[in-house]
Amino acid sequence: MEGINFNQIGVSFKGSGSYVPDQILTNSKISQKVDTSNEWIKSRTGISERRISSLGDNVTEMGYKAALTAIEMANWDIKTIDLIVLATSTPNDLFGSAPSIQAKLGAANAVAFDLTAACSGFLFALISASQFLKGGGGFKRAIVIGADQLSSFVDWNDRGSCILFGDGAGALAIEATNEFDNLIGFDMRTDGERGSFLNLPSKNTKGSIIDNIDFLSGAFSPIQMNGQEVYKFAVREVPIILEKLLKKMNYTSDKVDWLVLHQANQRILDSVGERLKIPGEKILSNLEKYGNTSAATIPLVIDEAIRNNRIKQNDIIATSGFGAGLSWGAALIKWG
Ligand code: ACO
Repeated sequence: MEGINFNQIGVSFKGSGSYVPDQILTNSKISQKVDTSNEWIKSRTGISERRISSLGDNVTEMGYKAALTAIEMANWDIKTIDLIVLATSTPNDLFGSAPSIQAKLGAANAVAFDLTAACSGFLFALISASQFLKGGGGFKRAIVIGADQLSSFVDWNDRGSCILFGDGAGALAIEATNEFDNLIGFDMRTDGERGSFLNLPSKNTKGSIIDNIDFLSGAFSPIQMNGQEVYKFAVREVPIILEKLLKKMNYTSDKVDWLVLHQANQRILDSVGERLKIPGEKILSNLEKYGNTSAATIPLVIDEAIRNNRIKQNDIIATSGFGAGLSWGAALIKWG
């Protein structure tokens, strides 16, 4: 934590990285498994294919590769990283996967931990990490990772949900600054009352340790989703939270260069864009290739846009994540 400055007032964005597994599962291949078609999936979701982890592609591996490319872009000495926050719902170790990413990176001076908020996870992790950087505790450099492997928890016989999800990871490198704050504003919400619309619940079966002492073995049921309710939730709440945030920060939607939404369904992206009067060419979308990669979508789509020279220094990004919990959030960012 060299160069500690207790007047750190904000964060700047220094790098991005991403990783997706090699295996490609196209819509027509899914239709060999469940009763669906490329035409149905494409028209209802915008998705054409998704990446599926194979052996060797767990959350630690994917998160590590995404983090490393973000660190390379930032041009940081790995030993100067203070904080690693991994947003994931599918850690390959329930005790946490972030420390194993720390070890693989050799980020010996960092503290690393997991954060779970499903598809809102990356946004919640970015906001949390920013508070550490601004909090006066000496944290200066952070890597925020979103990585998920939902293919391991999808019911591959449920055509209503298995078509949506894919695996991947993305990461951003952020740094404390005492001159400005490029995380211009943010908001976060949860509503557990509506939590039953989307779950990856534990499934305990009773065993016996000794006579009269039971235990519950740990396992998980596949993803259970009420697609229509999740859809209605997203198209209602996401415009509201973004509109409120823009207003609070004295921005109008015409000042937004890029709308970066959690990549769940192209129809959700279009509907939110329409409501905010943000034209299609400003709405970043890559779900055609990757589907919904949960906590990974936002950094994955940002990284692609930076490397394709679309997002440029000082561009204004309005972003929103939403999903299970139910949870949702928004952030207004200036890139750089
Ligand atoms: N192929 C063919 N037909 C299908 C398929 C499929 N893959 N899936 C459902 N259908 C059928 C249904 O059985 C139904 O048939 P019926 O009319 O004979 O009963 C019909 O298509 C319509 O089904 P709906 O559920 O009404 O379809 P809808 O237009 O709502 O699209 C979808 C379903 C794509 C799941 C949509 O509701 C959606 O995208 N919801 C949001 C889900 C989401 O984003 N979840 C992730 C959130 S992020 C997180 O935290 C993980």
